[in-house]
Amino acid sequence: MAHGRSGTTTPSRQLNGFASGNNPKAGALARRQKIIQQRRSLPIASVEKRLVEEVKSNDTLIIVGETGSGKTTQLPQFLFDAGFCRDGKTIGITQPRRVAAVTVAKRVAEECGVGLGQKVGYSIRFDDMTSTSTRIKYMTDGLLLREALLDPYLSRYSVLVVDEAHERTVHTDVLLGLLKDVQKARLRSLSGKESEDKNPNINKGEDYQPSTLKPCQGRKFPPLKLIIMSASLDARVFSEYFGGARAVHIQGRQHPVEILYTLRPQTDYLESVLVTIFQVHLNEGPGDVLVFLTGQEEIESVERSVQDQMPQLPEGSQNILTCPIFSSLPSEQQMRVFATTPSGFRKVILATNIAETSVTIPGIKYVIDPGFVKARSYDPNKGMESLIIIPTSKAQALQRSGRAGREAPGKCFRLYPESEFEKLEESTKPEIKRCNLSNVILQLKALGVDDVIGFDFIEKPPRLAIVKSLEHLFLLGALTDECKLSNPVGHQMARLPLDPMYSKALIQASNFNCLEEMLITVAMLSVESIFYSPREKSEEAKTAMKCFANPEGDHITLINVFRVANEFLEKRRTVINKEKDEKIMRKWCKQNFVNSRSLRHACDIYRQIRRHAEQMGFHFSSCGDNFLQFRRCLAASFFLNAALRQPEGIYRALASGQVVRIHPSSVLNQTKADCVIFNELVQTSQKYIRNVSIIDYLWLTELAPQFYMMPN
Ligand code: CDP
Ligand code: MG
Repeated sequence: MAHGRSGTTTPSRQLNGFASGNNPKAGALARRQKIIQQRRSLPIASVEKRLVEEVKSNDTLIIVGETGSGKTTQLPQFLFDAGFCRDGKTIGITQPRRVAAVTVAKRVAEECGVGLGQKVGYSIRFDDMTSTSTRIKYMTDGLLLREALLDPYLSRYSVLVVDEAHERTVHTDVLLGLLKDVQKARLRSLSGKESEDKNPNINKGEDYQPSTLKPCQGRKFPPLKLIIMSASLDARVFSEYFGGARAVHIQGRQHPVEILYTLRPQTDYLESVLVTIFQVHLNEGPGDVLVFLTGQEEIESVERSVQDQMPQLPEGSQNILTCPIFSSLPSEQQMRVFATTPSGFRKVILATNIAETSVTIPGIKYVIDPGFVKARSYDPNKGMESLIIIPTSKAQALQRSGRAGREAPGKCFRLYPESEFEKLEESTKPEIKRCNLSNVILQLKALGVDDVIGFDFIEKPPRLAIVKSLEHLFLLGALTDECKLSNPVGHQMARLPLDPMYSKALIQASNFNCLEEMLITVAMLSVESIFYSPREKSEEAKTAMKCFANPEGDHITLINVFRVANEFLEKRRTVINKEKDEKIMRKWCKQNFVNSRSLRHACDIYRQIRRHAEQMGFHFSSCGDNFLQFRRCLAASFFLNAALRQPEGIYRALASGQVVRIHPSSVLNQTKADCVIFNELVQTSQKYIRNVSIIDYLWLTELAPQFYMMPN
């Protein structure tokens, strides 16, 4: 297909080209110069002075700007240069996603010419890359919430930037409420003995609420500068929440994007993705392709299919370089999406909705959008949370297509008919309205917010969801009859960076002499799909999985994988060559149909939570191969997720009464166990339970009488 733009090179792509040459010093110099040039050309560069002035004169500021305008990477550097880190204070920037925190910190460290973890660092759950000299710190919003547990005034920060606020993750929403409170409390600390209500600095609107933080016993804290950054154009909701805070808009650059729809609805969107990738590759001019998928499993399956079909490309055509990007991808691999595409290749980036706004990838000219996203959904009546794949909102579809027009005009292929677009929701519902709130409520309680229902949320979650979560925490033993954090269980649960049910499992495991096994289980359950089964090799994959399978369930099966992999590596580990070790591991994983990325991530998580458990003085023990105590511990911890077999071979979840089936991927798929516990409920065409183990029904009344012996 011929079209006018094919073969043209946009100015910014020329700018992206590396200077050639063999001299490493000259190469580094060229790269620095390129970075300086890139920074200068960003839309935000021309408004540096104005932005710094705005921050100086407003304690709360809202900055709205098109994705790619330079907000996340540049603003913290502007503020650092303007002296906001004098007195050893830090500028903190929160991101809803781990990937964004890591990639952006790396980029900014490079721009500043410093090693990561020095002046610029990041901190995410299970991975801390900061030091005492870190002044610009990127982190996840959840991590900052945890920091507030230890330092309620967040005293080390002079400025906090809540980035990607439009995403409205549950952590962002809670953080906004908390930071509003910290701002008030800091002002109160400055006003000495005066009560906060007499403080003239506080804007006492109609719905003014005094700070819930404890008085700071004479310490004085400077005012906290708070910046809310958002890519969407609707800043009103944030401005109103912060008592009419000032909002500034940064003009972005957006080239026209041609939108194409399919004529008919697609039955298999993964198949359509594959066809479209090759159509674009063969028929369109130069430029990289960005494909939006819903999760790691889909991304890896499309990646394999593209690689399998590559040999069928006509002779002489360019090659395709696939680059996956999703949250749990190891960070060196995440960075591959930012590398310059080698000549002779077209880069095809396979991303989750991370690439909608969180990370800006240069060079994209084509976007393929099947129109789906994986979202959390919570039914407070049934107390069940599940991950479901749903259509995107219109706002998301627009953001996605916008990615194609950052540097030059582009094209977006929406894999659904135009009539479907009109039926999409306008915008995505904030997560706080559709998720299980147990974790958040536990943290609020630990922060001293007793009246959770009365908490000043930017948007109130459904009352029923709060009540259910309080009940859930009470049943887990985290709350007392008066709804206060219990001692020690509630406090221990709040300290562990895990879902309350998993924290409970670790606390219980000490009593059941299986802490080691529970640490492995929690780590393995924290990653997506340990096993993979390519369509064309599904029989081989099944046989491989059988080597690890345990007839009592998936939990012990996962422990087996972890143990065998680590024993294998232990025997072959080299002292000096980490890269070689990883290669050995990847080979082992491939042979055993184990997802090496997931396993590596699980091993990292294992080490981190083990450290937490050590710091908290847990009693370490292992049950070896005697798993009876371990399964009893599963029952004592996950009793809210128990299911009983029904005559027709289906199961009924006891807490919610829902009819469920055991997922085909479970080792118990063909077994007729009477009573099981599970960790996950997924809803596709049916309701499936995943990560399932057999327990004895009588254990439930013995180990969880608070739930199973309640008078009706
Ligand atoms: O936050 P916002 O979307 O406004 O922009 P940003 O993330 O600060 O990105 C500004 C520029 O930095 C983009 O044009 C990216 O191409 C570039 N960037 C990069 O090259 N590598 C990264 N890891 C992050 C950003
Ligand atoms: Mg950004």
